[in-house]
Amino acid sequence: MTVAYACGKVILFGEHAVVYGQPAVAVPITQVQAQATVEDAEPGEGITIIAEDLRRTYKLEEAPPDDPLRVTILNTFRRLRLSPKLDLTISITSTIPIARGLGSGAAVSTAIVRALAKHFDKYLASRAVSELVYETEKIYHGTPSGIDNTVIAFEKPIYFIKGSKAEIFWVGRPFLLAVADTGVQSPTKEVVEDVRRGWERERERYERLFEGIGKLAEKGRRAIERGEWEEIGRLMDENHSLLREMSVSSPELDGLVEAARQGGALGAKLSGAGRGGNMIALVTKETCGRVEMMLRMAGAKDVIVTEVR
Ligand code: MEV
Repeated sequence: MTVAYACGKVILFGEHAVVYGQPAVAVPITQVQAQATVEDAEPGEGITIIAEDLRRTYKLEEAPPDDPLRVTILNTFRRLRLSPKLDLTISITSTIPIARGLGSGAAVSTAIVRALAKHFDKYLASRAVSELVYETEKIYHGTPSGIDNTVIAFEKPIYFIKGSKAEIFWVGRPFLLAVADTGVQSPTKEVVEDVRRGWERERERYERLFEGIGKLAEKGRRAIERGEWEEIGRLMDENHSLLREMSVSSPELDGLVEAARQGGALGAKLSGAGRGGNMIALVTKETCGRVEMMLRMAGAKDVIVTEVR
């Protein structure tokens, strides 16, 4: 039996604008993770997929061609030059909430790719893992920028521009983030499509917003490298305002952002596609407890505090 894991992620700066070629900054979150297990099955059994959290067990050959797990498994076989006629049981579990901006889809695929490579004693570099998962991301998201699969495969803070090599960068002074869940599911694909419709209707306005966000991502990276917490927080606030103008926030997200600020966070914003999912707040050891309490009082369904280093 072979087991492999993959972490979740949050976007610190640049969601949505990154789909239009602007830079973005994302970091891994290791408190939540997806796990894939690969076991040899009896000869002739074929490939059985057990999605434990969804309470679903099915045969790969019976899955529709666009089933994301099927696509991930078959692409990995192709890449590893393995026959798809294998007899395996592949089980998946995950503590990453689904459709909340924490990269659950990319993490599940990454765990599967890693578990298969490990099971067959093959080496896949992080870049190759990321490329394979990107193919599945297209099914989940339609036109993904590739930021989720990249940050999850590398498990390091990244500065990302669609179509270029991601840059891993150093965090000058580790900082704490409170990640709070609105409890509202928000499929990335739908929000990304909505933004596209907005951009098609009002190109100039949207492009101004994208550029503004891109500049914040650049400044954000520099502030993180220099360890300037106040500046990171300020830039997060600005990024949230621009995302609101793009109408991807929601009353729940705005409520949590406001609560975090009142609790003493240095800055706060939605993270991921928006309309639901998670928000993030920059906190310190001193403010962390109060911010968490304020977030819970304002209706957060869950709060994780994670250190970015
Ligand atoms: C999703 O985590 C982030 C978005 O920018 C979409 C993408 O980059 O593919 C909303």
